[in-house]
Amino acid sequence: MPNASDLVTIREPRSAAAEAYRALRTNIQFASLDKPLRTLLATSTAPNEGKSTTLANLAVTIAQGEQRVILVDCDLRRPTLHTIFNLPNEQGLTTMMLREDAGLLAQKTDIPGLVVLPSGPTPPRPADILGSKRMKEIILKLREYADMVLFDTPPINAVTDAAVLATAVDGVLLVFRAGDTKRDRAREAHQLLDKVNANVVGVVLTNVKGDQAQYSYYGT
Ligand SMILES: Nc1ncnc2c1ncn2[C@@H]1O[C@H](COP(=O)(O)OP(=O)(O)OP(=O)(O)O)[C@@H](O)[C@H]1O
Ligand SMILES: [Mg+2]
Repeated sequence: MPNASDLVTIREPRSAAAEAYRALRTNIQFASLDKPLRTLLATSTAPNEGKSTTLANLAVTIAQGEQRVILVDCDLRRPTLHTIFNLPNEQGLTTMMLREDAGLLAQKTDIPGLVVLPSGPTPPRPADILGSKRMKEIILKLREYADMVLFDTPPINAVTDAAVLATAVDGVLLVFRAGDTKRDRAREAHQLLDKVNANVVGVVLTNVKGDQAQYSYYGT
């Protein structure tokens, strides 16, 4: 389970890893100049590839760049964003789904400009929830409150949650773990996203060894 020590962008802002996150932020901001990416989700082929850690550090980096960012936990199967930011998870996205009068249940963090909307109680059929009309309304609402909204999701090869949500956001980041992610699975992830006409904006490679950085980014 990732925790606050995984926020390398806060713990070691001058490290090569933090610098790689700043490069990732720049790449995303310049990915589409005509139509800026305002909503972005991260997914992967399998568990533990580093989706939540990557997205949390990216969110910190965007906030450090003085933009307002909302980080949303749409991994309704194994939510972890609240543990990374030490926040309660009694209420969150699923509460907003059930109660139209709930308002925005995002919580403040120690980082100015960064708020987190945790998953809330985990529901029985996550894909139905993420594909609902209500979810689209919530995404529109979130956009009003932030310059950038980032969504964490479960692995796309295992369940449809990420593919369903991918049709409702501006861009998708694929997170692969160097040395672990299988080529066939990576191709399959791309195909699943192509099938729903998702806009894959890049691939982030985690666990990269060497003295440069732990992170690599390839635009697609
Ligand atoms: N860039 C990285 N380099 C090395 N290790 C990393 C990196 N990012 C995350 N990790 C480690 O890998 C583990 C899994 O990370 P994380 O929980 O972010 O993955 P995930 O893809 O969100 O997993 P899940 O599918 O369970 O939600 C954590 O222990 C984390 O510390
Ligand atoms: Mg995760």
